[in-house]
Amino acid sequence: MKARIVASSLGLLLAATPALAQEAPTLSLIDRPAPSLDKLPKDAYGDLVRYGHELTTRTFAVIGPEVQERSMRFAGNNLACTSCHQNEATKPYAMPWVGVSATFPQYRAREDAISSVEERVNGCMERSMNGKALPLESREMKAFAAYIHYMSRGVPVGAKVEGAGAKQIKVPDRRADLVAGEAVYARNCAACHGVDGQGQRRGKVGDAEGYVFPPLWGKDTFNNGAGMNRMLTAAAFIRHNMPQGTTHVAPVLSDDEAFDVAGYVLSKSRPIKAGLENDFPARWNKPVDAAFPPYVDGASADQHRYGPYPPLMDLARQRAAALKAARDAAAMR
Ligand code: HEC
Ligand code: HEC
Repeated sequence: MKARIVASSLGLLLAATPALAQEAPTLSLIDRPAPSLDKLPKDAYGDLVRYGHELTTRTFAVIGPEVQERSMRFAGNNLACTSCHQNEATKPYAMPWVGVSATFPQYRAREDAISSVEERVNGCMERSMNGKALPLESREMKAFAAYIHYMSRGVPVGAKVEGAGAKQIKVPDRRADLVAGEAVYARNCAACHGVDGQGQRRGKVGDAEGYVFPPLWGKDTFNNGAGMNRMLTAAAFIRHNMPQGTTHVAPVLSDDEAFDVAGYVLSKSRPIKAGLENDFPARWNKPVDAAFPPYVDGASADQHRYGPYPPLMDLARQRAAALKAARDAAAMR
């Protein structure tokens, strides 16, 4: 037992040295061209990846709530996956899928379980798309998995990927200012997303053609269980990707403006997902900005919704450390 502990702490020590760092290669998505669909073979695999691309960019037209074939209505809103996963899900810090295949299976706190990439796709289907899970054996699910897989070419398992996920903001130590957020919205967002947040349809209601500018609140957008409904995720996404055309290299909004406008957007009504109390069943790793009960740290619903977050983050860190210490102590016994 003792030997194992020594060995593992030695491992930690060595991992920090450059020689072993090679085992976890670092790779940057910034200025790295994503795999091109033009290079796909004309075979069954190529066809599946191309269908995955279609599903990703024109979700509303293939599995949206307005498609002719009722049995194909899996998404509950008229967004596309690319309403958030921008540039065909390749844009750095807009939750790109490049390399994602290499990160699954993966522990997910929301389920407190190891998840597959298919389960992750269904996470967004049921929340971001406010819809139903795709059957694992469906051609649509296989196509999503194949597209993500193709986009992940050349990224090895275990790689540290710069540009993955969203780039966090420096979190202001205060509650979001919704009045300031409304002013930021009027100045920087309303021209595309509308003063009423309903965006702009490409055609008309019922045509399954989706949006030129997607809605940010109301009935036809992500539900309250979505990652985008969390303040720190929304602020991170908005700061580094909005107004459209913005990248992490030259953000238009300050951290404070992104935080306030995220508060304003998330203060509006949106579809409600049933059963959210079952999310994050381990509780100790429930994110501080998951704004639905139960609130395990005794802080108010308002603080989880709008901040201030740094005190909650400190508390969460302390709790995780205490849990780890208790676990380590138990392992020594
Ligand atoms: C020039 C038009 C434009 C402006 C201005 C703009 N957006 Fe967007 N926004 C888009 C488009 C288009 C998308 C869909 C993704 C894409 O195609 O790049 C989007 C997507 C989003 C999304 C994710 C999808 C959804 O429906 O929720 C959020 C959140 C968002 N924008 C918030 C904002 C906020 C907040 C601002 C102001 C700071 C803003 N946007 C300004 C065009 C714009
Ligand atoms: C309203 C915005 C939004 C839309 C629309 C959306 N997603 Fe997501 N997605 C997110 C956010 C935010 C994350 C990362 C944060 C999280 O874990 O919740 C994410 C994460 C993912 C991941 C994991 C990425 C990683 O880095 O591990 C996959 C895979 C994914 N989404 C698939 C999909 C698919 C497939 C669709 C369309 C059917 C879709 N998403 C639509 C917001 C969205």
